[in-house]
Amino acid sequence: MWIDVITLFPGMFLGPLQESILKRAQQRGLLNIVLHHLRDYAFDRHQMTDDVPYGGGAGMVMRPEPLFRAVEAIASDDATPIILLTPQGRRFDQAMARALAARPRLLFICGHYEGVDERAREHLVTEELSLGDYVLTGGELAAMVVIDAVARWIPGVLGADDAASGDSHASGLLEGAQYTRPARFRGWDVPDVLRSGHHAAIARWQWEQSLRRTASRRPDLLAQADLSAEAGAFLQEIHPALREPGTQ
Ligand code: ADE
Repeated sequence: MWIDVITLFPGMFLGPLQESILKRAQQRGLLNIVLHHLRDYAFDRHQMTDDVPYGGGAGMVMRPEPLFRAVEAIASDDATPIILLTPQGRRFDQAMARALAARPRLLFICGHYEGVDERAREHLVTEELSLGDYVLTGGELAAMVVIDAVARWIPGVLGADDAASGDSHASGLLEGAQYTRPARFRGWDVPDVLRSGHHAAIARWQWEQSLRRTASRRPDLLAQADLSAEAGAFLQEIHPALREPGTQ
């Protein structure tokens, strides 16, 4: 997969993209991330990428010309999604991460200042994404979050043992409780079933835990999830005590 990022602050990306799984994915040629400095596409004497808003108001607005120039120089085809990170965008989620990972190429524009000239939004950008209902200092951190979540879905990026399909949200539900050694810690024991070696019983326990946890923490997800009849029956059974064991 090929990802271009247009940003005023390419330095912000250097740490997060050069560690851990994203670093390995790039070394193995599964992911190419190319950073483009927006200022390189601003040709006026002062290389201005922003200006005061027409009609007045606080803050600055990103000018359209450098953005158009940058995108047109970078993405030669019409199929590449041109994604603007902005708090006004559609809320990013796991389903979008998965869908974006199926594309061969993505281009991100990191928004800044008070916003982006409307002509760039209307005629250049194909999608606007937001991380959530809060305002970051710019789109850079948001782009890194989206890139990270997308990369997990690229075949080969994660090892077979930790495939993204088992993650919380991948199935529409939260993952259940997890334990590792020691079997007893400060008097708290790992549930016996997990040490029983009985695979079917373990799978059933994990499935129940996932449903219980989702019901207690994120009932909104259950409402949207594509649940089996068996899951529906289990939830009926534990209702109204939609509580995880140990939480009061
Ligand atoms: N830029 C500033 N705030 C943002 C947000 N919440 N999501 C995406 N991009 C942003």
